[in-house]
Amino acid sequence: MSEAIHPVPEAWAKNALINADRYAELYRQSVEDPDGFWRQEAQRLDWLTPFTRVQRTSFDEADFGIRWFEDGALNIAANCLDRHLAVRGDAIAILWESDDPSEPERRISYRQLHAEVCRFANLLKARGVGRGDRVTLYLPMVPEAAVAMLACARIGAIHSIVFAGFSPDALAGRILDCGSRLVVTADEGLRGGRRVPLKANVDEALTHCRDVDSVIVLRRTGADVAMQAGRDVDWHEGVASQPAECPPEAMNAEDPLFILYTSGSTGKPKGVLHTTGGYAVWASMTHQYVFDYRPGQIFWCAADIGWVTGHSYVVYGPLINGATTVMFEGVPNWPDPSRFWQVVDKFGVEIFYGAPTALRALMREGDHWVQKTRRSSLRLLGSVGEPINPEAWEWYHRVVGEGRCPIVDTWWQTETGAAMITPLPGATDLKPGSASKPMFGVAPQLVDSEGKVLEGATEGCLVLTQSWPGQMRGVWGDPERFFQTYFTTFPGKYFTGDGCRRDADGYYWITGRIDDVINVSGHRMGTAEIESALVAHEAVAEAAVVGMPHAIKGQGIYAYVTTNAEVEPDEALRRALVQWVRHEIGPIATPDVIQFAPGLPKTRSGKIMRRILRKIAENETSNLGDISTLADPSVVATLIADRPQLA
Ligand code: WT7
Repeated sequence: MSEAIHPVPEAWAKNALINADRYAELYRQSVEDPDGFWRQEAQRLDWLTPFTRVQRTSFDEADFGIRWFEDGALNIAANCLDRHLAVRGDAIAILWESDDPSEPERRISYRQLHAEVCRFANLLKARGVGRGDRVTLYLPMVPEAAVAMLACARIGAIHSIVFAGFSPDALAGRILDCGSRLVVTADEGLRGGRRVPLKANVDEALTHCRDVDSVIVLRRTGADVAMQAGRDVDWHEGVASQPAECPPEAMNAEDPLFILYTSGSTGKPKGVLHTTGGYAVWASMTHQYVFDYRPGQIFWCAADIGWVTGHSYVVYGPLINGATTVMFEGVPNWPDPSRFWQVVDKFGVEIFYGAPTALRALMREGDHWVQKTRRSSLRLLGSVGEPINPEAWEWYHRVVGEGRCPIVDTWWQTETGAAMITPLPGATDLKPGSASKPMFGVAPQLVDSEGKVLEGATEGCLVLTQSWPGQMRGVWGDPERFFQTYFTTFPGKYFTGDGCRRDADGYYWITGRIDDVINVSGHRMGTAEIESALVAHEAVAEAAVVGMPHAIKGQGIYAYVTTNAEVEPDEALRRALVQWVRHEIGPIATPDVIQFAPGLPKTRSGKIMRRILRKIAENETSNLGDISTLADPSVVATLIADRPQLA
């Protein structure tokens, strides 16, 4: 296979924080003497009580545990705000761009953000929220979302952000799971010119959540929304009487910081738990090195705060590092496909970090939408969330970056807290489509399905053999599930769920999930979740969901549905099921294809053979492998014959 290589530009090699030699040296130290390495790196934070012990970690069942800096204390919000006041209090912390290009931007200095966070923290306290309490945030991409996160962190409350595209049902499930008593939302969200009824969704969700006694409502659009006396509080009215000072709580490094729900291969979404000290070190360090970040530069991560990327690279990483972080409420292609690059020009963005799905969508619209903007401020580009195909990579490099900006393709997960395998712009020659090399402290290994370690150029399951500070610490409310999910497939190792190839130069190429998780537009969906939504519909007897290749989304959602005997499947039912899933989970779970199936391919013991369903969805039906173990092999021919012809 011939691969393009883009060598590190000379100026980058000379001026970057980390060049190739330094990377090699630091990487070696980080895995050979992790305690020495992390003791040093942790000095990037202000500690209220210095730690003495760097780590106590084991992936083995006998003494399983993950603890970093465990006797240290700090407050992450104070690290994001207070310590910057003396040096850069008037520098811009958040540069906000509305969904509506005619609405003025907002520029919020570190000093202003500090005051807003303190006021909101005091409001939370006034509503009875304290250390260890969970607070659910269901908010649009507005600065107040960052304010609410940091206010929780300031008083030691644990935030759980639910992406504002999720349905009332999905929201209710997440509120109940973590036992939040307070929800923060807005009257409406605004995305691509459309209004999202956030408060109404919360009201609907709360019919299932009896324990919620406070809802703080931000006025975003000014829509007339129902306010329930005693329970609902207008954000601005609530903070008006609160003082702009609120002492930060001293949090133990291992105290929980946030919960973020993500899809797994089985059952309902799990609450991934991150703690304070290790996460702060990890988010800050990766933000600095991966993006070669220097104070004063304008940094834009185009992810929503509803995903981990927004947590680590819109809020925590950049603010710990004193950055100016851009927050964008809108979407890439509205009002037109120049929008991203207009925002780049408007703010003089130097570092832009986005998702392949958006790039592929923009690429399809044509180069002129990019070329009518200047983009002269850009110096570095990033990609995250799913594999980037070399064609999109080259387009990003050539058209968006005009050949002068390195691209950092960062592989990581909700569970890993921040970037794990990634090029460093001053150190790593780039191969389009490869996440390339491990970050400091990351020890990747490829193993076969039996767990045998594979050496050299090879392909296998990606595992990590050492802990890193930003590693998740647990599944909220289900300690067993954490160990069970990640450390039992390959005992003693963290299993990522991803397949991966390593080439002769030691570059890693993520090939995609090898469990029942699919990646739709960079968003992770559990096939089991979509299946349970489908079978909850009265017409459905059984459903099986698999991924299918999709030119823009990376993967699309392909659902096989068997209806109840008395139901005659038709177009109307197909449309109804699509709406049903959108209502149950949210628009991101919209099935791309629903194929009605009289029967599903099952083994004699009744297990659905997804391998076959995937092949049919991919239209790779010439090579289905062995189907002789099926209880009724004839269903396969029926499924192939009935496969809808897709555009
Ligand atoms: C899964 C994690 C990264 C934070 C946002 C998504 C896939 C992520 C890449 C990449 C290839 C990638 C993996 C991973 N993925 N980044 N650069 N190249 N694949 O976090 O929702 O937890 O999803 O996204 O399959 O396991 P997430």
